[in-house]
Order: sequence, then C-alpha cells, then structure tokens
Amino acid sequence: MGRALARRMAERGDRLFLLGRDAADLEKSARDLEVRGAPAPVGSAACDLERTDTFAPALQAAEQALGGLDVVVVTAGLFATQDALEADAELARRLLVVDFANTVVFCEEARRRLLARGGGTLCVFSSVAGERGRKPVVLYGAAKAGLTRYLEGLDHKFRAAGLRTVCVKPGFVKTSMTDGLTPPPFAGEPDGVARRVLTAIDRGEPVVYVPFMWRWVMLVIRSLPRAVMRRIGF
Ligand SMILES: NC(=O)c1ccc[n+]([C@@H]2O[C@H](COP(=O)([O-])OP(=O)(O)OC[C@H]3O[C@@H](n4cnc5c(N)ncnc54)[C@H](OP(=O)(O)O)[C@@H]3O)[C@@H](O)[C@H]2O)c1
Repeated sequence: MGRALARRMAERGDRLFLLGRDAADLEKSARDLEVRGAPAPVGSAACDLERTDTFAPALQAAEQALGGLDVVVVTAGLFATQDALEADAELARRLLVVDFANTVVFCEEARRRLLARGGGTLCVFSSVAGERGRKPVVLYGAAKAGLTRYLEGLDHKFRAAGLRTVCVKPGFVKTSMTDGLTPPPFAGEPDGVARRVLTAIDRGEPVVYVPFMWRWVMLVIRSLPRAVMRRIGF
C-alpha cells in the first residue's frame, strides 16, 4: 500500500523521500517514482523499525533533501498469523515492538520535527484488527489497538498546534502481507486504498477506513456483545 500511495503522490508531482530497510529496493522504487512524475532526485535513507537509532538520521536526511517535511506517512508493519505468533515467542515480541512500540517512537520523532516547522500531517497505517479483541488476531490486534489509541491522543493534543494526524484502518487488502490468505468479502486493492488515503491526507481526516465498507462492518463488530464475539469465529 505504501508503494501505491507513493505512486499516486508522484503522479501529481509531489516531492518524495523514501525510508526503508532494503537499500536496493528503495533505489529501484525511487527511480520508478521519478518516471511517474515525482521531481528528481527522489532520495532515500535507511530506516528499520526494529532499530530506533535509525529514526532520527533517516528523518533528518529527508528534511535536508526536501527542505522540510509537510507529510510523513508510515505504512511499514509486520504481520503473522496468531498460530505462528503463539508458536514463536521471539516473532511475537518482534511484531509487538515493530507494530506498536517502535512505530510510536518513530511517530514521536516525526511529530517533533513537524511541529518545529509549525505543523504538518502524520499519516499512519493501523488496522481494523485493533477495533475488538478477536481470536485470529490477539497479538497483532493488540499492537494495532495501542497504535490507534496513540494516534487518537496525538490528534486531540496537537491538532490545534498544526499537527494533523491521519489514522488509516485497512480491512483486508490484497498485498504481499496477505499473500496466501483467503480474501474475505470487501477485500480491497492497494490502488483503491491509495486514492482514498491521499484524499484523507489532503483533508486531514483523523480516521479513514479502507476500503470504505469496513467502516460499516466495524460499526457492527464494535457493537456486538462479548458473548456474541466469543461464539463467532470472526
Ligand atoms: N494488507 C492488509 O490487509 C492490511 C490490513 C490491515 C492493516 N494493514 C497494515 O497496513 C500497512 C501496510 O501493509 P501492506 O499490506 O501494504 O503490507 P506490505 O506490502 O507487506 O508492506 C509492509 C512493509 O513494511 C515494511 N517493514 C516490515 N518490517 C519493517 C521494519 N522492521 N522496518 C522497516 N520497514 C519494515 C516491509 O518492508 P520490506 O520490503 O523491507 O519487507 C514492507 O514494505 C501495515 O502497517 C499493515 O499492518 C494491512
């Protein structure tokens, strides 16, 4: 989804800077974005959500290359099935650190930098998995629930100071993360998600469900009594 969103931004001529952990892949994506319309050069820097020491230098490099940050988008995340996480305590620890603790640490670094320039937009991908405690996503859902609450608090605390927080809550989207899983009804495609998220960024919408139907699905799920949740497999 991050790549699809960057492509949409490139097509309208936004200046871009990429962060990630695979230098060769970033380089390839940067050239692709230039071909699609992003002003050259599209720069990149190493940033690994498992290594907090990479956060400040990566954001610093982006600020220097772009002459300041208007929008920071965080799409990186780890997913594994609940069975895999229960069978591998180290994988579970890594997922909790990447999807919650270190994403928050990264956002705090981005928040300070955006506010130092008078504000901007922080767009972060959480998940509908954080809306209720559910059997198939006990750990992943807990991490995303924490992230969602953090973003909500950030929005309340700093919007008046100029920080616009956009919390993206994807339902099921067909990406490399969900490869091999059976798509449920209302499964989305990365490009449709990117179009909707870009509008949300431009408008500064605090919460966006993608695809749109998940807003209504989760309205129902949030209202189900615990006894019903206990019985259903959702
Ligand atoms: N797809 C869905 O149905 C769905 C549903 C709900 C929420 N989400 C959330 O949406 C976001 C985007 O997911 P996606 O579906 O687009 O998955 P994706 O294609 O697998 O993208 C996830 C990205 O996260 C990066 N990443 C993983 N660990 C990292 C680390 N330690 N440091 C830096 N980058 C790291 C991966 O980079 P590498 O290329 O280096 O591996 C990958 O590019 C995630 O936060 C995910 O939890 C997805």
